[in-house]
Amino acid sequence: MLIDGVLHSNVVASQEVHAQWGGVVPELASRAHQENIVPVVQQALEQAGVTASGLTAIAFTRGPGLIGALLVGACFARSMAQALNIPLLAVDHVQAHVMAHFIREGEDRPVPSFPFLNLTVSGGHTQLVLVRSPLEMEVIGSTLDDAAGEAFDKGAKVLGLPYPGGPLVEQYAKTGDPHRFKLPVPAVPGLDFSFSGIKTAFVALVQRVERELPGFAENERADLCASLQNAIIDHLVAKVRRAIRDHDIKHVGIAGGVAANVALAVRLGELAQREGAEFFVPKREFCTDNAAMIATAGAFLLEAGVLAPLDTVPVPRIY
Ligand code: KG4
Ligand code: ZN
Repeated sequence: MLIDGVLHSNVVASQEVHAQWGGVVPELASRAHQENIVPVVQQALEQAGVTASGLTAIAFTRGPGLIGALLVGACFARSMAQALNIPLLAVDHVQAHVMAHFIREGEDRPVPSFPFLNLTVSGGHTQLVLVRSPLEMEVIGSTLDDAAGEAFDKGAKVLGLPYPGGPLVEQYAKTGDPHRFKLPVPAVPGLDFSFSGIKTAFVALVQRVERELPGFAENERADLCASLQNAIIDHLVAKVRRAIRDHDIKHVGIAGGVAANVALAVRLGELAQREGAEFFVPKREFCTDNAAMIATAGAFLLEAGVLAPLDTVPVPRIY
């Protein structure tokens, strides 16, 4: 909930259902949305000290994402906009991750100035984006197969770690040797990415050695996590370096769930410094999926007068 552009509440429902099943089960995700949407909205209003009748606009995620979950949010937001007679704002989920840089919480933080380069890395997307304004974003590179977050999650799964695996891989990697296990360096031209080679090689390595040496995945967990993380980060850093040079970038940011990874932020911060660019990363809780980024992206739409018709339908695929 934003009041005068400043964040007053940011309620995120527990994602435990996913851990229990080792990944996101679409049907369970939409049921969890149905169960949670009313209490979550109520809590957001209460924490901000606002009643529904005091709202000036409502933003929702139009896509991309799982259609069942998107439908729950879209139906709820459309009904609320109609009942309260307030503007409806349809937000692109991946663009909203970029807008996380602009979430305001009272004290002013440095923000990137337009145009800037953003690396958006989540469980479903990996993109290099030229951000010209809050509403004008050009995707100049994206993954040809898996997303960076997916490589973290699949790698974690073969090690027997629960979903989402990214934060756990980061945790174990802290005490591991990142050069112990060699993983392939993806050969993708231009600014595009590919993570399926790293993922497949990692899964094959763990399964093969585990068969010969039972307990390998557990005993060597730290080195395995560090090697996997390092291979993913190397690939991301190489492409960001190229984009900075190709597009003469002065401000560069990262966003999305994988941007919560401190090792990645450190490496990109060092890269930016070497290249003479300033580096920006949102607070950790605003990297992974959250309501504050949707509200902030919505506020820019409202300011520009880009209102969604009440019959707006969600779109599962955009990119
Ligand atoms: O943006 P997000 O919350 O949801 C999507 O839009 O997909 O991103 C979730 C992804 C998951 O793949 C998760 O493993 C990854 O972000 N992630 C991380 C970390 N925290 C979350 N990956 C690496 N290191 C982290 N600390
Ligand atoms: Zn996301």
